[in-house]
Amino acid sequence: MSEPLRELITEALRGASAYHVPQPPRVVAKLDANELPYALPAEVATALAAELATVPLERYPAADAGVLRPAVARHLGVDPASLVFGNGSDELIAMLCAGFAAPRPGAARAGVLYPWPSFVYYRIAAMVAGRDAIEVPLRDDFTLDADEVARVVATRRPNLAFFALPNNPTGTLWSVDAVLALAKAHPDVIVVSDEAYLAYGGRTLLPELATTPNLVVMRTLSKVGLAGLRCGFLIASPLVVETLEKVRPPYNLNSLTQRAAAWLLDHHADAMATHAAAVVAERARLAAGLAALPGVRVYPSEANLLMIRLGNPGDGRAAAIWAALADRGIMVRNFDAPGARGPLAGCLRVTVGTPAEDDLLVAALRELLAA
Ligand SMILES: Cc1ncc(COP(=O)(O)O)c(C=O)c1O
Repeated sequence: MSEPLRELITEALRGASAYHVPQPPRVVAKLDANELPYALPAEVATALAAELATVPLERYPAADAGVLRPAVARHLGVDPASLVFGNGSDELIAMLCAGFAAPRPGAARAGVLYPWPSFVYYRIAAMVAGRDAIEVPLRDDFTLDADEVARVVATRRPNLAFFALPNNPTGTLWSVDAVLALAKAHPDVIVVSDEAYLAYGGRTLLPELATTPNLVVMRTLSKVGLAGLRCGFLIASPLVVETLEKVRPPYNLNSLTQRAAAWLLDHHADAMATHAAAVVAERARLAAGLAALPGVRVYPSEANLLMIRLGNPGDGRAAAIWAALADRGIMVRNFDAPGARGPLAGCLRVTVGTPAEDDLLVAALRELLAA
């Protein structure tokens, strides 16, 4: 790239790298992206295909989310006007960073706070938007120091605070009441309850919205079996909705996604809930299987994932095991590297798969750890 063009890129972005998803040639167990491991049943897929055949693709999508808005409103029991839709909740996170950007008096940039380690896109969205990323470290066991969060919010006064309840990548469920108390104590801070993994544990803050106008509840269909659709939504008070609607690209949700999501919520929601319950039961079995392996620490999780520690920070053992698993077609998420430091060095994140996939993982790990 020519140097004059490079100068157009913000300092933060120049130093960053793109989100990388490794793609090995042969995958036998895909346990790296917190997806639900169950495909749509064939009869549901066939009926959905017939429904999608009627979507007018020569037209732009419904800019107001058309049939999807009432379907989601029915599903959640909320006012349709309180919803904002995103191309995945990633896009909603970016929209929140873009929409609430005015620096506090005396500050150079608006602040975006989140505990760390947490969902990596909070960091990316804050950085891309040129915000001040305020990261509050988790304790060593990935629990949240709520007093420290309250202190940092009071002193740094962020515009936005994101809490993944339960958290990714650690699976930890922090105190939902502490997050609510924070929102109540700071009505001038937008507090986001990111409930992407709610199907697997935790409690929704949805009932609190009526009395807490600075609270935003964010959901996605990605973790309950529909990651390929890219459909996220949030529920918020009128000022937040109105502001995000000014930021939202008009046709951000394509027509097929809108129709499919609406149809599936009406016809397939019970099956999705049943699948999620099966994953919760399987999580306990997988956690026990992993914890029985020598030298493996399994952190408590309320999401469809388990964070495991296999090595010491810097020794690169977890990274080597990750590579050996990938060679066998078993994909998990690596947070380790030789010489790595930080809270996740020595760790891998494992998505709860089908019992058969999980058995493959545990057997492969048993062999690799013994070698
Ligand atoms: C906590 C959390 N929030 C939001 C998302 C984004 O989900 P999507 O953009 O697929 O809706 C993820 C995805 O991994 C996540 O872990």
